[in-house]
Amino acid sequence: MAADEYVLDTSVVRGFIAGVRGTIDAAGSPAEACERIRPRFADLLADPDWLPAAYQEPAPESGMGGGIGQWLLYRAGDGSLSLFSLVVPPAAETPVHDHLAWGLVGLYRGTQDEDIYARSETGLELVERRVLAPGDFYVLIPPRDDIHRVRTTSSETSVSIHLLTNDTGCVWRHAYDTLTGEARPFRSGYVNVDCDEATARRTSGAAR
Ligand SMILES: [Fe+2]
Repeated sequence: MAADEYVLDTSVVRGFIAGVRGTIDAAGSPAEACERIRPRFADLLADPDWLPAAYQEPAPESGMGGGIGQWLLYRAGDGSLSLFSLVVPPAAETPVHDHLAWGLVGLYRGTQDEDIYARSETGLELVERRVLAPGDFYVLIPPRDDIHRVRTTSSETSVSIHLLTNDTGCVWRHAYDTLTGEARPFRSGYVNVDCDEATARRTSGAAR
């Protein structure tokens, strides 16, 4: 099996991931795992020192558009878990998109509005709007809360932290047209790692 990748290889990230993986292994369901991860995730969001400035930078040429940077921090060798930051410049917004995996998402810096959608007979329906401040986070368990868009409302760039049980940046998921509900294939990628290389490593089973 391909080796885990600690792109940000620090004791904080290694300790966080070790705790999360132990919790997931011991939990009987995604809901139970998320509930047990909450205190650890809250601690990570409250720690001002663990995320270097390089991972809080926008990215002019990004898969999300709008200068939105998605920086990989960690991913499991088998693609079953990833930790990444999503950096959204002032007034920029993501496309409406899904994730296809459960996990936790929280705000580290700046403020955001989040629009949550559900599929309806006529397309997509806006079901909730949340206002997020630093330290706020939510659990996402598809299909509940899986389709959303985030927009930065602060004058500073917003940074959110995502812990999801897939290799979110590299899987093919969906972006949506809010008027028609039409889904198109969408792969956001990461600013700092290549998706094709990871896929090849998993396919070949080579460790590095
Ligand atoms: Fe998202």
